[in-house]
Amino acid sequence: MTTPKKLYIKTYGCQMNVYDSERMAEALEGYEQTQTPDDADMILLNTCHIREKAAEKIYSELGRYRVLKDANPDLKIGVAGCVAQAEGEEIIRRQPMVDLVVGPQSYHRLPELEAKAQRGEKALDTDFPEEDKFEHLKARPKASRGPTAFLTVQEGCDKFCAFCVVPYTRGAEVSRPVDRILTEARDLVERGVREITLLGQNVNAYHGASESGEQSLAQLIWALDKVDGLERIRFTTSHPNDMTDELIEAHGTCSKLMPYLHLPVQSGSDRILKRMNRSHTRDSYLRLIERIREARPDILLSGDFIVGFPEESDADFADTLDLIREVNYGQAYSFKYSPRPGTPAAERGEVEAAVADARLQELQALLTQQQKAVQDSMVGREVDVLFEKPGRDPGQMVGKSGYLHAVHVDNCTAARGDIRRVKIVQSVRNSLGGVLV
Ligand code: SAH
Ligand code: SF4
Ligand code: F3S
Repeated sequence: MTTPKKLYIKTYGCQMNVYDSERMAEALEGYEQTQTPDDADMILLNTCHIREKAAEKIYSELGRYRVLKDANPDLKIGVAGCVAQAEGEEIIRRQPMVDLVVGPQSYHRLPELEAKAQRGEKALDTDFPEEDKFEHLKARPKASRGPTAFLTVQEGCDKFCAFCVVPYTRGAEVSRPVDRILTEARDLVERGVREITLLGQNVNAYHGASESGEQSLAQLIWALDKVDGLERIRFTTSHPNDMTDELIEAHGTCSKLMPYLHLPVQSGSDRILKRMNRSHTRDSYLRLIERIREARPDILLSGDFIVGFPEESDADFADTLDLIREVNYGQAYSFKYSPRPGTPAAERGEVEAAVADARLQELQALLTQQQKAVQDSMVGREVDVLFEKPGRDPGQMVGKSGYLHAVHVDNCTAARGDIRRVKIVQSVRNSLGGVLV
């Protein structure tokens, strides 16, 4: 038997990249994963193009591999993900030691590309092929794994928000068929998974084929609800316009669907939302939140915000702060607008950097305050916790509540994968402390 070669994968960006990295590692036969680039035979960067900083990071990371490549000329270096899709050949021009470039829709061709790179040729594939890459990626080995997993059900986006590269890097919106998702879910459960997070750039636009016709995300969730051994279902990321009545209702009636919803709004100003091509208004978003809370009063809401979008005035920004106060988020991600090549908004003027920085600080202060208040309000309550791993202290276990709060329990008798009732007794910086009930 030949000893396996070593593969080092570094993953940037969103959860879909985490999922894709797992699939790529499985597709590359003859390799085993290593946790450091130093002894790798192949280094694969799975990249993100969403903001300029994310994309530039890749080139500085590649620069660091120079010494490794000098020491080991057989080392192959690959770039996958959204930077690969957006920049293609340009990556090899800027960094000639890169051997392989593969876009997100071509991962099933990775073994061929790797073979080509081994022959000493540059291997590049940034097509949007017809075939379903997931079907062509090798089936997962039956190894056991942790209690939580991601499962991509939908990919790509047809929304074309004026600031966003995703429709260009991931391509048009595509849903995977229902039966393949169910098969993959059952397989995950067999290997110890208790919680599945369904992934898609526009996951609630899901409309997958099935024998009985097309099914919506809500219908898929109900089908997964019947999978024995699967205890928790989550999904991300949703677009406000695709929150259907049946999906909202599922939050009230499906006990496996967790009380957490990531629903990005980006801005609280109608003027800016229009310029962003978001196709929802401040008011339609707020009314939607109201309906979701009617269905599931304790749901924890999370959002994404962009500050400093072109032409954002003080009044527009004040509208965003005001919307945040009205919603009260338990979790949020916020970003300074970054102009992206090829997107419509990149052609427009920019808000002064100092102004955008100040706005981001003010917005994050408000969001942090809300998150802390929501987390603190858990103290005294009993919640179910899915335990994932040992904590820092001996005897301690950590897991997640349904609201996605990290919870740690000292002297814990629960095992990895157990769901146990926990009384929350303290709220510290990034987690809650509790005792088993
Ligand atoms: N499909 C998801 C996620 C898209 S990317 C959605 O529709 O919400 C994740 C977040 O990055 C976005 O919600 C947005 O807040 C942010 N983002 C996207 N493009 C950006 C840009 N050009 N500059 C700053 N933030 C951006
Ligand atoms: Fe990007 Fe908008 Fe699509 Fe989300 S909905 S991926 S922000 S274009
Ligand atoms: Fe980044 Fe691509 Fe995800 S741009 S956020 S890795 S879809």
